[in-house]
Amino acid sequence: MIKITNVTKRFGSNISLDNIRCEFKKNESIALMGANGAGKTTLVRSIMGYYHPNDGEILINGLNPIKNRLDVLKHISFVPQLPPPIKLNIKELIEYVSVSAKIDKDFIKYYADEMKLDINSNLNKSFFKLSGGMKQKLLIAISLAKKSSIMIYDEPTANLDPKARDDFYRLLKENEDNKVLLFVTHRLEEVKELINRQIYMDLGKIVTDERL
Ligand SMILES: Nc1ncnc2c1ncn2[C@@H]1O[C@H](COP(=O)(O)OP(=O)(O)O)[C@@H](O)[C@H]1O
Ligand SMILES: [Mg+2]
Repeated sequence: MIKITNVTKRFGSNISLDNIRCEFKKNESIALMGANGAGKTTLVRSIMGYYHPNDGEILINGLNPIKNRLDVLKHISFVPQLPPPIKLNIKELIEYVSVSAKIDKDFIKYYADEMKLDINSNLNKSFFKLSGGMKQKLLIAISLAKKSSIMIYDEPTANLDPKARDDFYRLLKENEDNKVLLFVTHRLEEVKELINRQIYMDLGKIVTDERL
């Protein structure tokens, strides 16, 4: 579903992705690991068409994520490392994603509930005033409700307490069939049950790529 062919990305003289070549197929759940600055987030952003590679090509189900951005993003659920500064309140945000991305509101409420996020008593609260953990839970609920064939999480658990992390991993486990799950993490132990492939990056290169 994701094909990355000889992709290089530079910022000035700094090389963040150095001739990356790899492919992610249906039913693969990948832990993407590596030290800070290894290039993990750059790779994820390139897959979603936020960054333009200097060289090489990325195809998502045969489509170029830069030229066919909207079509590609339809297939992807993504939760970033840091929640974006959204000014809408929760009610407006749910309304917005349900219309723009055709996500079922009842699914969002269901997954929020499973993540122990009380949506109903916070409907009029602005997203950016929520605690870090609440923001992350809501973004996770939306990502699961979207029912995408590609799910990408970039270190999404930093603000979650251990119980919330367990709830999240359980929900992912229930949802990963027939999909690609790309999970950037420093906590391999926690995602061991979820993943079947483990990739380490360093200095913009893939240094190990192991199927488990
Ligand atoms: N928008 C950007 N502008 C300049 N440099 C960037 C940008 N994004 C990433 N980099 C650089 O690319 C390298 C890899 O960063 P990143 O992909 O965020 O690493 P990781 O997610 O593995 O910690 C770092 O040296 C970082 O400074
Ligand atoms: Mg990162």
